[in-house]
Amino acid sequence: MHFQPATEAEMMALGETLRSVFAEGGVVYLTGDLGVGKTTLVRGLLRAFGFQGRVKSPTFGLIESYDIDGFEVHHLDLYRLGHGEEILYLGLEDLLTDNSLMLVEWAEKGTGWLPAADWVIEIVDRPDQSRSVEIAAAADGRSG
Ligand SMILES: Nc1ncnc2c1ncn2[C@@H]1O[C@H](COP(=O)(O)OP(=O)(O)OP(=O)(O)O)[C@@H](O)[C@H]1O
Ligand SMILES: [Mg+2]
Repeated sequence: MHFQPATEAEMMALGETLRSVFAEGGVVYLTGDLGVGKTTLVRGLLRAFGFQGRVKSPTFGLIESYDIDGFEVHHLDLYRLGHGEEILYLGLEDLLTDNSLMLVEWAEKGTGWLPAADWVIEIVDRPDQSRSVEIAAAADGRSG
C-alpha cells in the first residue's frame, strides 16, 4: 500500500486509519530518516486505539508500553541502541502475546535480534513537505 501524507496532520490521520490493519497485533518495523514522521504515525495509531495521553518518543528508554483496555502496544525506538544484543535485555519475546502490537522505530539497528516483522513501513522524505509511505506485509511474518 502506498500513501503520500502532505502534512503532519495527514500523517496522524494515516496512522489512525491503520488501526484496522494492525488491530490483530503483530510486529511492525518503521524505517526512515530522523524526523521523517515515524513517531507521528504511531501517535495517530495510538489515538485510534483509544489512547488519549501524551505519546512520548521512547528514544532514551528504548521502549514505551501502553495498555489500552487490555490491548498492549509496545513502541520502541532503537536509535540509541549500542549493540543489537542489548535487545535481549528488553525481553521482547515475553511481550509478544496474542493481544499485543509492537511498533519499532529504527528497527534496522536491531537486525538479527528483533522478533520477525509482520509488516514493514518505509517512510521517505519528499522534496516538498510530504512523505512517501510504503506499507508491506513482511515475507517472514505472520501476515506474510
Ligand atoms: N508530511 C509530514 N508527515 C509527518 N511529519 C511531518 C510532515 N511534514 C512535516 N512534518 C514534521 O516532521 C517531524 C516528524 O517528527 P517525528 O518525531 O514523527 O519523526 P521520527 O521519524 O519519529 O524521527 P526520529 O527518527 O527522530 O524518531 C515533525 O516535526 C512534523 O511536524
Ligand atoms: Mg521517532
